[in-house]
Amino acid sequence: MAFEIRAMTRDEAKLAWDMGAREGWNPGRHDWELVPAIDPQGCFVGVLDGKLVSSLVAVHYQGKYGFLGMYIVVPGYRGRGYGLAVWKHGIDYLTREVGVECIGLDGVLANEAIYNKSGFHTAYRITRFSYAVDSVFKRSCPAIEERHFPDIADYDLRVFKVDRAAFLHDFIFKSEAKTAVVYQGGKLLGLAMARPCFTGYKIGPLLADDIEVARALTESLLAELLGEMTFIEVPEPNQPALRLVNELGMSRGMATNRMYTCDKYDQDTSRTYAVATRVVG
Ligand SMILES: CC(C)(COP(=O)(O)OP(=O)(O)OC[C@H]1O[C@@H](n2cnc3c(N)ncnc32)[C@H](O)[C@@H]1OP(=O)(O)O)[C@@H](O)C(=O)NCCC(=O)NCCS
Repeated sequence: MAFEIRAMTRDEAKLAWDMGAREGWNPGRHDWELVPAIDPQGCFVGVLDGKLVSSLVAVHYQGKYGFLGMYIVVPGYRGRGYGLAVWKHGIDYLTREVGVECIGLDGVLANEAIYNKSGFHTAYRITRFSYAVDSVFKRSCPAIEERHFPDIADYDLRVFKVDRAAFLHDFIFKSEAKTAVVYQGGKLLGLAMARPCFTGYKIGPLLADDIEVARALTESLLAELLGEMTFIEVPEPNQPALRLVNELGMSRGMATNRMYTCDKYDQDTSRTYAVATRVVG
């Protein structure tokens, strides 16, 4: 049997994200084309006799910080080494070819021990909350426009610690997202988007100076999502963010661990009310 690991094609990216949907991860509808654009060379598939059996996204930002996601083996092919093989390939790509300083991931809780073995330590949990929007909310914040983007990229850099402006720009403007922004006296205080997913909408990133800004942003998005199932993925160290989702009556769902190989790119969780995606940070 011939097994090879190679870069994902565009069609295979679609298949990989469909696999993610079947795992219950509920990715964004356009993630399969927006995420690989970060680093097309860092998206891998394992192919056995012409059939895609495994996937891994191992992208880098600015050659400094890598992020792993979409680590999946097709059910029926698990436990035969096709996962570990694509994983090692991705790690090799990031550490040897690109030379990143640090790698992050959002890992399912069941895999914490194996990721520990691979040199990752757990920083905190990220928990998904869901809410079938059944109340009428008021939109108090305007939508994001192109002219806001330099401020948004700057704000995100302070939170995410590495420049991901190119990805963020596409994520905001090419995902059919509802968006919201808060300014005060010409200063950006927060931003949010909700993109359509396989099921309903997912809010994130939701970045804000404080809970009042986060509430105004969230309610502005919910104002456009009446009747939709809406998800939000909250880093647990952000207590005000947990308070906000509880106040909104959202239900707690699956959790993942944010894990890093070093602390240099620890995201600022005090201003992260929701992460962008569990696949690329
Ligand atoms: C996680 C998953 C990709 C692993 O693939 P797999 O085919 O089951 O695993 P493999 O056969 O390649 O594993 C071979 C060995 O390497 C280990 N291993 C697998 N991935 C590893 C990793 N990232 N780091 C260290 N060890 C790893 C396995 O535990 C196994 O060890 P063992 O022989 O002592 O039991 C697969 O189980 C899967 O698709 N799970 C559902 C999706 C999912 O949860 N993905 C993870 C998201 S964070």
